[in-house]
Amino acid sequence: MRLRNVKKAFNRINDYEKLIKDPINYKGKWHTYFDNDNPIHIEIGMGRGRFLIEQAKKNPTINYIGFEKFTVVMVKSLDNIKEEGDISNLCVVRYDAQDILELFEENEVAKVYLNFSDPWPKERHYKRRLTYREFLKKYEIILRPEGLLCFKTDNQLLFDFSLREMQMLGMSILKETRNLHGSPWVQENIMTEYEEKFTKEGIAINMVEARFSNR
Ligand SMILES: C[S@@+](CC[C@H](N)C(=O)[O-])C[C@H]1O[C@@H](n2cnc3c(N)ncnc32)[C@H](O)[C@@H]1O
Repeated sequence: MRLRNVKKAFNRINDYEKLIKDPINYKGKWHTYFDNDNPIHIEIGMGRGRFLIEQAKKNPTINYIGFEKFTVVMVKSLDNIKEEGDISNLCVVRYDAQDILELFEENEVAKVYLNFSDPWPKERHYKRRLTYREFLKKYEIILRPEGLLCFKTDNQLLFDFSLREMQMLGMSILKETRNLHGSPWVQENIMTEYEEKFTKEGIAINMVEARFSNR
C-alpha cells in the first residue's frame, strides 16, 4: 500500500466505533463492554474480518474480539464491519498477539481462532509462529478450562509444526483433518478470505481443534 494510503488509514482509525482504543482497560471485564456474560471468542490475525463478521452474525450469543497487528489491514476489517450495520457482539483491537496477556485475565476466553497465520517458513523464525509453544502457553492462561483452540492453514509444514507443539504441551486433539472441505466439519465451517483464495486454487485446508487437557 502506498505511503499516502497508510497515512490515511492511521488518520481514520479513531473514527471507528468498533475499534477499542483502550483495550487494556477491559482486561478481566470484557463483559462490561458487551454488557452481558456471554462467552468470548477471539481471532488472532483477523485480516479483513470476513470470518469474524460471519461468526458474529450467525452466533449472537457469543461475543467476538478480533486481533490485528497492522493498522492498514485492520482499517479494512473495520470498513467491512461498518458496512454490515450494527453487530453488537463484535469488536476489534489493534494489538500484537505477543502481548495478549495484557488484555485478558485467566479463564476469560472460551475459544481462540488462528486462521491462516503467517507461516514464517524460515527455520530461524519458528518462534514467531503463532502456534509456537510460548504463544500456546499464553492461550492456555486466558482460556477457560474447557476452552478451545481452533487452527486452520493451507501450509503443511506449519500444520506439522503446530501439531508437534500442541502434542509437546499435552494438548488433546478433538478434531484434525488435512482436508477440511472434504470432511464432515465443513458443514460448520466459515471461510476466511485466505481460505477462499487457497480453495479456489485447489489447495487443501488443514484444520485442528484442541484443548489444554491438563486443566
Ligand atoms: C495471512 S493473514 C490471514 C488473515 C485472515 N485470518 C484470513 O484467514 O483471511 C494473517 C494476518 O495475521 C496478522 N498477524 C500476524 N501476526 C500477528 C500478531 N502477532 N498479532 C496480531 N495479528 C497478527 C497479519 O497482519 C495478517 O493480517
